[in-house]
Amino acid sequence: MTGLAAQKRLYIKTYGCQMNVYDSERMADVLAPLGYGLTDTPDGADLAVLNTCHIREKATEKVYSELGRLKAFKASRAEAGGAMILAVAGCVAQAQGAEIMARQPAVDLVVGPQAYHRLPELIARSHRASGERLAADFTPDEKFDALPSQRLATGVTAFVTIQEGCDKFCTFCVVPYTRGAEYSRPADAIEAEARALAADGVREITLLGQNVNAYRSDGSGGLAALIRRLARIEGLDRIRYTTSHPRDMDQALIDAHGEVDALMPYLHLPVQCGSNRLLKAMNRSHTAESYLRLIERIRAARPDIAISGDFIVGFPGEREADFEATLALVREVGYAGAYSFKYSSRPGTPAAAMAGQVHEATKHDRLARLQALLEAQRRAFNADLVGRTVPVLFEKPGRRVGQIVGRSPYLQAVHCEGRSDLIGRIAPVAVVSSGHNSLAGLRAPAPV
Ligand code: SAH
Ligand code: SF4
Ligand code: F3S
Repeated sequence: MTGLAAQKRLYIKTYGCQMNVYDSERMADVLAPLGYGLTDTPDGADLAVLNTCHIREKATEKVYSELGRLKAFKASRAEAGGAMILAVAGCVAQAQGAEIMARQPAVDLVVGPQAYHRLPELIARSHRASGERLAADFTPDEKFDALPSQRLATGVTAFVTIQEGCDKFCTFCVVPYTRGAEYSRPADAIEAEARALAADGVREITLLGQNVNAYRSDGSGGLAALIRRLARIEGLDRIRYTTSHPRDMDQALIDAHGEVDALMPYLHLPVQCGSNRLLKAMNRSHTAESYLRLIERIRAARPDIAISGDFIVGFPGEREADFEATLALVREVGYAGAYSFKYSSRPGTPAAAMAGQVHEATKHDRLARLQALLEAQRRAFNADLVGRTVPVLFEKPGRRVGQIVGRSPYLQAVHCEGRSDLIGRIAPVAVVSSGHNSLAGLRAPAPV
């Protein structure tokens, strides 16, 4: 902490993936020395930032409706004799910077995901009528160098972005255009950030990247080497990473799952669909069979690992048989959880121009069928833990008095009765019941 009392109010609303969550925290870190402190309402804010997501059409449209809402807060602030700066950050800012300013004149500045370290300068300029108002450069190395080494408020768990961007160009996806080329942060900088977090009481870190397992650091190896290095940090008990691409799941990383205790048995490994014809059209560089073989190798190293994934239904040209291949793959894998989406056509991506766009009603029907299967698998995975004792890292008080909440190694939320001094500690919990998204348990009598 800087010790400076916050004189200005900063409101940040975050959409999209965990990398945006990390970026929002870092924007607050960048702005803290200027006297900005976080507030959870736009009412009376001096600076409101929308950190946006462009992944599907709905995500993008939300930004414009939210801007309409914020414009009203900006107007009432002005009526009261104050001023609110309205900023748009994130992936929509990168993709549609000029359009945002044209569609919503109340927006004062637009800053892409690789340029937000320049917020202080942009804010200073926005006070002048003719200043630069759009920053959408791709300079991840400059950005990370410019971010303060100290992070503000942290809890028991924290995100650390280690990799940015994507070179894979799946034909449906905007990320390579909004986040730029693959870039890996130097391992020393990541270790320093992780050490500082651990010293602040963080027990678990999740390493983030659009393709986190494409992480490569000059001279010090890939993600597996980095994980082994971070696992040696005193106090850092748990390490996770997300999101991985099947193509970059190398043997060293698979071995780490079998050998590094701090590496949690949970892997988000999106496959997207089970039809080889469509996987090829998606430019995914794996087949259903190669993905299944990969899962087998990972389970050989760590038999209890929880696998999650992402799925798209209704990709152009998808027939009933392709969709059934997806259901068959899901049955074969047995997912602990998953995200599934209707294909959303994104301007400028190759798939948007493909023949055979699927009707909305068909997408809707297939998504419901896929989600029913995935939901049954999630419940089965959770139910499997009933009767077992799992180590839980407690993160916060629960909704009910006397209740605390933490996470199992498999990322399930676990609720139980317990004293708040357990928060920040790992303790065994006997699981007594399970639901859709969480487990309930009893604190086991024996200490860890
Ligand atoms: N890099 C990650 C995914 C990042 S985007 C990976 O390759 O797995 C998160 C998820 O959004 C994707 O896995 C995909 O399932 C979904 N997604 C991306 N573009 C989409 C689109 N145009 N329509 C619907 N879902 C999409
Ligand atoms: Fe998008 Fe594919 Fe890159 Fe993932 S790997 S971010 S889905 S282009
Ligand atoms: Fe969305 Fe950008 Fe993340 S498009 S999913 S916020 S990388």
